[in-house]
Amino acid sequence: MVFKIYRWNPENSEKPYISSYPIDLNECGPMVLDALLKIKNEQDSTLTFRRSCREGICGSCAMNIDGENTLACIKRIDPSLKEVRVYPLPHMFVIKDLVPDLSNFYAQYKSIEPWIQRKDFQNGEESGLEYYQSKNDRTKLDGLYECILCACCSTSCPSYWWNSDKYLGPAILLQAYRWIIDSRDHATKERLMFLEDPFRLYRCHTIMNCTKTCPKHLNPGKAIAKIKKNISLFM
Ligand code: SF4
Ligand code: F3S
Ligand code: FES
Repeated sequence: MVFKIYRWNPENSEKPYISSYPIDLNECGPMVLDALLKIKNEQDSTLTFRRSCREGICGSCAMNIDGENTLACIKRIDPSLKEVRVYPLPHMFVIKDLVPDLSNFYAQYKSIEPWIQRKDFQNGEESGLEYYQSKNDRTKLDGLYECILCACCSTSCPSYWWNSDKYLGPAILLQAYRWIIDSRDHATKERLMFLEDPFRLYRCHTIMNCTKTCPKHLNPGKAIAKIKKNISLFM
C-alpha cells in the first residue's frame, strides 16, 4: 500500500508536491491516522498534520482522504486498494502540508455567539441557579450537540468554497441552530435576525454535500432548512 500525501511548506519557495510512502499494512494500525503516525515516526518526521484524541471526538485530524472529507483517526484503511491519497481540507488556505488555516472558520463560529443568553441575568451575571429543561426540549438538541466542529462539512460545500468570507457555511449554521432551538436561551429572535442575510444564510442552495460527508453522521443541511423555516415563522 502506498500513501500519496500532499506536501507544502510555505517557508521555502517550493510549489506543492505529492510524496509517496510505502506502508506494510501488517505492521500498521487499521486507521489512516495510524499510517500517518507511522510515516512520521519512521520515514519522514517533517510530515505535518493535526491530531489529538485519535477517537473521532476532537475534530483536529479532518482531511481529504481519497476525495472525501473525513477524520483520519476513524477512517479505515481499505486493504483492497493499491494507494491512498491524502490532501488537506479543500479550498482552505494551507499552513503546512495537511494543516488548514481555520482562523476564518473560528471567527465565524464566534460571530454566532455560541453561548447561552438569558434575559434574567442580573447586570450580565448569571444567578448561579440551574436552568431546567424538559426531556422533550432536551431531545431537540440531539443531532446538534454532537458536532465536533471538524469543518469537514463546510469545506465540502461549493457555496462555502466561493463565498467563505460572507457565507457562514453548514458547520456554523448547524451550531447556530443548536442555540436557536435551545429552550433555555432567550435570544432566539436576535439570532434569527442576525442570520437573515443573503450571504450568511441564504447562500445555502441545498447541495447537501455537507450531510453526505459528515463523519459524525449529522445533518447540517436539515438544520439550515429549519433555520429558514424558523425565520419564515418568527419574522
Ligand atoms: Fe464536522 Fe459534522 Fe460538525 Fe460539520 S456537522 S463540523 S462535518 S461534525
Ligand atoms: Fe452547502 Fe450543505 Fe447547503 S453542501 S449548499 S450547506 S445543504
Ligand atoms: Fe481527534 Fe481524529 S484525532 S478526531
